[in-house]
Amino acid sequence: PLVTSKELFSKAYDGKFAIGAFNVNNMEIIQGIVDAAKEEKAPLILQVSAGARKYANPIYLKHLVQAAIEDSGLPIVLHLDHGESFEICKQCIDDGFTSVMIDASHHPFEENIAITKQVVEYAHDRGVVVEAELGRLAGIEDAVNVSAADAAFTDPQQAAEFVEKTGVDSLAIAIGTSHGAYKFKGEPNLDFERLQTIAGLLPGFPLVLHGASTVLPEFVELCNKYGGDIPGAQGVPEEMLRKAASMGVCKINIDTDLRLAMTAAIRKSLTENPNNFDPRKYLEGGRSAIKEMVRHKIANVLGCNNFL
Ligand code: G3H
Ligand code: 13P
Ligand code: ZN
Ligand code: NA
Repeated sequence: PLVTSKELFSKAYDGKFAIGAFNVNNMEIIQGIVDAAKEEKAPLILQVSAGARKYANPIYLKHLVQAAIEDSGLPIVLHLDHGESFEICKQCIDDGFTSVMIDASHHPFEENIAITKQVVEYAHDRGVVVEAELGRLAGIEDAVNVSAADAAFTDPQQAAEFVEKTGVDSLAIAIGTSHGAYKFKGEPNLDFERLQTIAGLLPGFPLVLHGASTVLPEFVELCNKYGGDIPGAQGVPEEMLRKAASMGVCKINIDTDLRLAMTAAIRKSLTENPNNFDPRKYLEGGRSAIKEMVRHKIANVLGCNNFL
C-alpha cells in the first residue's frame, strides 16, 4: 500500500537502521528498485524531484508508482524531493503524495520556518508528512575554515528550535555531504560530532541525510572503461552511512549511485553489442544493475531488509 513514513521512521529510529529513499525518473528505474525491495523484504521511499516531474510528466510517475504498489504489495512512500515552494508541495499533496519535502534552506532562518510551517499545516490536515531542510549541503572541503563550516552546516540549537516551531516530521541536515558524484576533494569526512549534538537535542526525531551516495569506484571504472569520462568522483563511504543510521538518521537519499549503475550497464551493453538497436536489450541491463545496487544498499548499508 501507499503509506506515510511515520511508522517506518519510528521503527528505523529504534532499530538504528535507515529507510532508503531512491529517486525515480522512469519505468525501468522504478522496476529495478521495487524488485530489489521485494526480494529484500524492505519498505521503500520513492522520491520524485522537480527534474523528474519535468522529464517524465508527473501523471506517468504517479501511475508507475501506483503500478509498483499493486504489483509488489510493498509499503511504499511517494515523496516529493526538494520541493521549492508551498505551491509545488500543495500540488503533490493534492495529487496523492504521502510525503513532501519543502526545501526552503536557502532562505533566512525565520523565512524557512514560515514557509515550512505553511506546508506542514496544509499537509497534516490531509494526512501527509513533511520533511524540511536546515543548513546547506556542501562538501566539508568546500568549507575552507571552521567558521565557514559553521555557516553552512546545520546549527544544532537552530535545528531544535526549527523542529519545535514548525512541527515538521523529519529534518534534512548538512554535516558535509553534497549531491552528485564529486563530494570530497580529499579524504571523505562528515561532522559526526555535529550529528550527535543535533540528535541529542531531538531525541526520537528522524533526521535525513541527502547526498548520501557512495560512488562505488567499481561503477565509475565501468563507466570509464566503456567510453565514459568521470574522473575524480568520490562519495560517502558506506561505513559512515551505517554510523549515521545508528545516530538518528532514518532516511538516506540515494540517486547518484543508481545513475552510475544504470549508465555503466548501458554503456557496457552498447559497446559489447554494436549491432543491437533494440532499446529493451540495454534497458533491461540497466534495470538489473539498479536492482543489484538497491539490494546491496538495503541489505549491506541501510539495514532495512527483512522488515516486513
Ligand atoms: O537532489 C538531487 C537528486 O539527485 C535529484 O536530481 O534534480 O537532477 O532530478 P535531479
Ligand atoms: P546523491 O546525489 O548523493 O545520490 O544524493 C541524492 C539526494 O540527496 C536526492 O535528494
Ligand atoms: Zn537531496
Ligand atoms: Na536510524
